[in-house]
Amino acid sequence: MSSAKLTLNGEEYELPVVVGSEGETGVDITRLRGQTGAVTLDSGYGNTGSCKSNICFINGEKGILRYRGIPIEQLAEHATFPEVSYLLIYGKLPNAAELSDFREKLTYHSMIHEDMKKFFEGFSHTAHPMAILSSMVASLQTYYPEEVDGGEDPNIIRLMAKAKTIAAYAYKKSIGQPFIYPRNDLSYSENFLHMMFAVPTEEYAVPEVLRQALNVLLILHADHEQNCSTSTVRIVGSSQANLYASISAGICALWGPLHGGANQAVLEMLEQIRDDGADYKKYVAKAKDKNDDFRMMGFGHRVYKNFDPRATILRKQADEVLTKLGINDPLLEIAKQLEEVALNDEYFVQRNLYPNVDFYSGILYRAMGIPTNMFTVMFALGRLPGWIAHWKELREDPGARINRPRQIYTGPTENDFVPLDQRD
Ligand code: ACO
Repeated sequence: MSSAKLTLNGEEYELPVVVGSEGETGVDITRLRGQTGAVTLDSGYGNTGSCKSNICFINGEKGILRYRGIPIEQLAEHATFPEVSYLLIYGKLPNAAELSDFREKLTYHSMIHEDMKKFFEGFSHTAHPMAILSSMVASLQTYYPEEVDGGEDPNIIRLMAKAKTIAAYAYKKSIGQPFIYPRNDLSYSENFLHMMFAVPTEEYAVPEVLRQALNVLLILHADHEQNCSTSTVRIVGSSQANLYASISAGICALWGPLHGGANQAVLEMLEQIRDDGADYKKYVAKAKDKNDDFRMMGFGHRVYKNFDPRATILRKQADEVLTKLGINDPLLEIAKQLEEVALNDEYFVQRNLYPNVDFYSGILYRAMGIPTNMFTVMFALGRLPGWIAHWKELREDPGARINRPRQIYTGPTENDFVPLDQRD
């Protein structure tokens, strides 16, 4: 198939068809408005391909997710987060020398400028860590304003290295503890956990079970093609805004409860059910009731309509971590009961509403001792290399144009201004 036919107002138009490397078909409407005067309408962009991209492939029907062609299952089992970040950002798996160089840079650029520590003083101790993360990431530009075209962009390294420090400082700020500096002898995941959980008065060794769980969590969140936050990064980046500004916008998009904020919302929902007598069936009925806005957080996905491969990996991981840590938590019991319902209830089955990655990641973060308001920050740390890879791909695309959708206007037609004293 190389073209599609469109009949509009009795006229026939031929539209080119683009086929991707995995055989997905796109009708190219780039010239539609010029040819026909019409635009397409696709609220929520469920049928719109906004770009061509080499980074991530998803098949929602078959539950496939691959980064640069490599299945997520293989990456979660064999790779480290820095290795996956390199793969996403630079387009290939690093060799030993490249990985060692990359790791070293991610370590040696971890500290934030001492002056930036003062920014934290201005935030309220009740500030949501996502607000702090997005502000601090945008503020990095004030320290590193130079933009680099071509070659290795030091801003990419700085952002990857410093984001974990900012995230951990945001947490320390919220509990009133002193900031813990990063250490050069620790890996990426260990360093983050060390900055989160160490205190100056005691020795702290990162438990291996936590390091390993965090590594997998970060890998599973590292990219997901044109989701809400990545599309935001690309839209902002399309105006040629700098890396820090574009990623900061992505962080804000991720914050919402229908996107990355869902993992926090899952735990809040479980707490609500627990506090209301653990009657989970009542909440299942609420989720099914069309007159009730309650949604079962952590269920459903725009793309995965069969199963979410990340959720399958995390479900196993959550079981292992809970067993290894010997955790017996009533919230996790409620979560298991809800999962059971989703897999068997007709309402959920008919609508393909399965537990998504956020359902299990929330449970896992809780078991790891990460507080609920940090969950979305954890997601942001994982998604960072994906956002950077998309921003870089866009900036290196010679045909990239500013993103500027059209609309179908449904407001009032022309009418005259009425002076104040003559209005009803
Ligand atoms: N609980 C109850 N019913 C639901 C849920 C839910 N979580 N999700 C969807 N439905 C129902 C809808 O009411 C609708 O029913 P209808 O056909 O009878 O009207 C049907 O399922 C389809 O739902 P849509 O909202 O059209 O699905 P959409 O693809 O637009 O939304 C979304 C996907 C946003 C993820 C949705 O399922 C949802 O709100 N889930 C809860 C929030 C969540 O977990 N978000 C995390 C997503 S994953 C991520 O960001 C990493």
